[in-house]
Amino acid sequence: MVRVNIVLLGVLVYTCVCFFSFVSCDVYMHSPRGSNNRNCEKNENRNNANRLFDSQNNAKGGYACPRAVGGPEVVTPTMYYYSGSILTVEWTSQHSCGATNNDCQIVLQYMCNDTAPGLRDGQPESATDAATTTIDEKDPDNPNRGQHETVEYYRKCKTRTRNLDLWTADRREENPGTLLQTSPATQTRQNPNGNRNGFECPEERDYYPYWHPTPWRDIAVFTNNITMCNFYKQNSQNVQNKGECVSNADPNVVLKYNNERSCSSSGEGQWVERGAFGTPPPECLSTASIMSRDNHLGSSITGQMASYKWVIPDAIVDRPCVLRLRYNMSSTDIGFSVDSRSNGRVKSPLIQDPFRDFGYASNLSLAVNTNQAGRTFQDRSYVFFIKKRPSNIKSWVKIHNIGVRGKRGNIVQTFPAVEYDFSPTELTIDAADLVHWQWTGSGYNPARNPNDGEGGPKDPIDAQLRSDRSNIVQLDYPGELLPRPVQWNTMFVNKNGKVDQDLVTKFAFIDQDLDDKNETTRCMNWQELLIKNNNNKNEAEVDVQNCAKLNKARTPYFDGGLVRLHATGTFYYYSTRNNNLSNRGQRASITVKKGWVSSAPRTTVTNGAQYGMALLSLLLVIMLSL
Ligand SMILES: *[C@@H]1O[C@H](CO)[C@@H](O)[C@H](O)[C@H]1NC(C)=O
Ligand SMILES: *[C@@H]1O[C@H](CO)[C@@H](O)[C@H](O)[C@H]1NC(C)=O
Ligand SMILES: *[C@@H]1O[C@H](CO)[C@@H](O)[C@H](O)[C@H]1NC(C)=O
Ligand SMILES: *[C@@H]1O[C@H](CO)[C@@H](O)[C@H](O)[C@H]1NC(C)=O
Ligand SMILES: *[C@@H]1O[C@H](CO)[C@@H](O)[C@H](O)[C@H]1NC(C)=O
Repeated sequence: MVRVNIVLLGVLVYTCVCFFSFVSCDVYMHSPRGSNNRNCEKNENRNNANRLFDSQNNAKGGYACPRAVGGPEVVTPTMYYYSGSILTVEWTSQHSCGATNNDCQIVLQYMCNDTAPGLRDGQPESATDAATTTIDEKDPDNPNRGQHETVEYYRKCKTRTRNLDLWTADRREENPGTLLQTSPATQTRQNPNGNRNGFECPEERDYYPYWHPTPWRDIAVFTNNITMCNFYKQNSQNVQNKGECVSNADPNVVLKYNNERSCSSSGEGQWVERGAFGTPPPECLSTASIMSRDNHLGSSITGQMASYKWVIPDAIVDRPCVLRLRYNMSSTDIGFSVDSRSNGRVKSPLIQDPFRDFGYASNLSLAVNTNQAGRTFQDRSYVFFIKKRPSNIKSWVKIHNIGVRGKRGNIVQTFPAVEYDFSPTELTIDAADLVHWQWTGSGYNPARNPNDGEGGPKDPIDAQLRSDRSNIVQLDYPGELLPRPVQWNTMFVNKNGKVDQDLVTKFAFIDQDLDDKNETTRCMNWQELLIKNNNNKNEAEVDVQNCAKLNKARTPYFDGGLVRLHATGTFYYYSTRNNNLSNRGQRASITVKKGWVSSAPRTTVTNGAQYGMALLSLLLVIMLSL
């Protein structure tokens, strides 16, 4: 039989909206949602680039805080992933990776509140509070301020002398008074002035693997040069202790000495090795598998965004954690081994903005910024929890996480973030596997009117439209706009092959209370909505009683729980709220191999008069499973 589904997939055409960009745009994590240092600001641009970490990204990037608008009284559940489950991490990076135009590493790490007590996003105090102020060294416990690394960790970094072996190019000449022999580890070639970003240690940020203890556990490293893999695996803090100079006078104080010899000979302290997590080394992969080209924030060579399938570790459960992605790209003029022997304007292989003839007939002017010629971009997720995998799930059963990436707005408005999509958009699983559909969004997007984003509810403060909501409804074919009629639903069936009405409803209406009888909160039909809104269609669409648009869902968070798909085949689904051909496509597919029920819909149609429908649906199932 013809692969109808593939042909139809090809028919799905997105209108290409060409846009110009005046921004520099670097690495953005899309799933889980990367903050790019945002929190609860409703602006186009983030408020504070120094909030938690140094991303070096464009201010327009990032996804707003995963909350419904409000202060502490508005509780929005936090994303969680089961230990052992598979989470697809997706990102885009701008300056190419895995090709020949630079030397590229991608470093994926996570930390939880065991090595970073106090880890938090920062909680708004009221519905008008963005909670974007940088944490104060003197008031690190203020819950309003987000915190990743701890103040103790930052103090060590600020006390410790910088690593004098590092290549600093001509930054000492370009930034007089910085990067001295005595300067601390907060000053680096990329951050010569020692600016503070949260409690991140700049020297640790710029280099990997780092040589002193950090709170970061390694997940994976992608590299252009896989002969480096042994080095990464052996020097990862997952397996290797890291040292610091602990004061003899006070074991809680770390001194300025950054190596064992100077520490011991100072007579003031003792070199203490610690920090190995005792977990397997990071996975090391070639960047060829995620190759992307220059000046392009889109798909990699795979046709999908660059991604990594992270198996959530067992080591840590019931704790808040964050994910960190670094995109490290260097000009190939400066190899990994270039060090302090090449420092200064005379010896450095690269100097700031050369104006030279290079043997040519006249001078050429090059744009070389030596604090960016090797550069590290970064993004981090919001806080999520790792939960222990339920003990009644058999060991061979895999749990797959599927979420929603993207934010409210059209392709230009969301850039360099993206429009709504499921993540991953295509997934193949075994019949025994479980799927954990779960997503969050924000109530804090820049206002996007009905033309550029769908549905409500309205912002409680200014009645603007900022909210994200998504749902799942099965499609017959990926290119269609109308849902598959519910009696033929094959995606959510029970083990007898009958349509699981509760599950179908849960995913279509994301836990909105459809039985609510209260006049001011109940779901209204379109006619009622129009009457309530004086025939204003736009108002009716965003009305909080419009459950068809999911507006009654109180928060942008939804948890579908663990779902087993009993039928075999490829199932197509979309979000009826957000999908709007030809403005936005939020569609995905999931393929179940060797499902336990292959004729699922048949058993739901027992009535003789509906025999024809049953036959048709059986046909569809067969088609879908080929
Ligand atoms: C962080 O960890 C501690 C246990 O060390 C726990 O009591 C605390 O509640 C955690 N913090 C959060 C925000 O969950
Ligand atoms: C980035 O690359 C440089 C040069 O190869 C290297 O020294 C540094 O450790 C790398 N940093 C990260 C975060 O990977
Ligand atoms: C790759 O790494 C190896 C081992 O560290 C090194 O000897 C070699 O020079 C590197 N190759 C390139 C092209 O950087
Ligand atoms: C190029 O500029 C340098 C000074 O930056 C100057 O000394 C030199 O004469 C110039 N060369 C030519 C060919 O103009
Ligand atoms: C779908 O997108 C178009 C074009 O942006 C917009 O005019 C329309 O309002 C959208 N549909 C709905 C139901 O919001």
